[in-house]
Amino acid sequence: MHGEQWTDRRVVVTGGAGMIGSALVRLLLGLGCEVTVADNLTRGRAEYLPEAGEERLRFLRVDLNEPGAAEAVVEGSDTVFHLADIVAGIGFVFGNEFPIFSHNIALDRAVLDACVRLRVPNYIYAGSACSYPAELQMRADPPPLREEEAYPASPESGYGWSKLMGEYMAELAQKEGLLRVGIARFHNVFGPRCDTDPRTAQVIPSLIRKVIENDSGRLEVWGSGRQRRAFLFVDDAAETLIRVRERTMDQGPVQMGLERSTGIGELAETIVDISGRPIEIVFDTSRPEGDFDRRPDLAKAKRLLGFTPRVSLRDGLERTFRWVQSECEQGAASGRAEKGAAA
Ligand SMILES: NC(=O)c1ccc[n+]([C@@H]2O[C@H](COP(=O)([O-])OP(=O)(O)OC[C@H]3O[C@@H](n4cnc5c(N)ncnc54)[C@H](O)[C@@H]3O)[C@@H](O)[C@H]2O)c1
Repeated sequence: MHGEQWTDRRVVVTGGAGMIGSALVRLLLGLGCEVTVADNLTRGRAEYLPEAGEERLRFLRVDLNEPGAAEAVVEGSDTVFHLADIVAGIGFVFGNEFPIFSHNIALDRAVLDACVRLRVPNYIYAGSACSYPAELQMRADPPPLREEEAYPASPESGYGWSKLMGEYMAELAQKEGLLRVGIARFHNVFGPRCDTDPRTAQVIPSLIRKVIENDSGRLEVWGSGRQRRAFLFVDDAAETLIRVRERTMDQGPVQMGLERSTGIGELAETIVDISGRPIEIVFDTSRPEGDFDRRPDLAKAKRLLGFTPRVSLRDGLERTFRWVQSECEQGAASGRAEKGAAA
């Protein structure tokens, strides 16, 4: 399906040990690329990287915000997929707006500057639907969002602003002819190798973990449960990045997500159903719930990428549930082993 053009291409994936990055690395190795992953492992893990194809995979544990680090990573590459940034669930995002904004802006600048200085020809950025103006997402059943509606800008969070500035910075460099730019703007991505830490996890892994570890028979869901999001399975996000590189360089952001948004209450019900456990869902309206509803208009993706998501929400949730379950079991098993060793 993808052309010869990928074979032996030198590609960098920043944040490549994270959820989307590790899925992208698998695709790139399958296409025959030489892949360098740079990640400081704050959220990703080295074991998320594939073992097959290892001779064409180089992993560098590095904080890309350290002086000179980004240059050392991108030098000599043909394409940089820049995915490293801080991303988290809404509790963490709204509780840490300044550090997230500051970190992401500095990181995006460091990687983009390094690419410009070292004449890397192609830069791909992972933007976010959190960058759309809050007021377009504040009522029930809003029209689907179009890419150009990101401006006039008023994202709800510092995270959303940082991701919009990441896009903006890249587009300025492209406009001045410094390098070619592709932007994938994702709605809520989920899947295996996600963050399951209760402090930072996004809504899907957070709910799955609460269901798996539930011993009260009650599942607490943040907010009213009526807030809605368009989700995107991680493999579809990785495929989008490949297609952006192939087909939409210098053509502005292309968003991706399932066309229909899903209520968080409905999401929780589906996860409980997958678990097969008798769990009652209760809503905690004192907790933040973020924007009310958003979903993508996929016209640009269909026209230019020739692609829309392939994995349904239910299928993706079942796969993610199995992965989080095995993580929890491994965590419990290693906890037991540690206790045994200490005894
Ligand atoms: N997950 C989503 O719902 C979503 C939606 C829209 C856009 N995005 C964007 O996609 C990208 C990847 O997201 P993800 O969900 O795979 O997140 P992730 O946290 O799994 O991956 C990001 C990786 O970047 C690494 N990282 C963070 N700061 C770093 C630094 N200073 N130096 C080196 N590595 C660093 C982390 O360790 C992590 O492995 C991010 O840019 C995110 O903003 C994600």
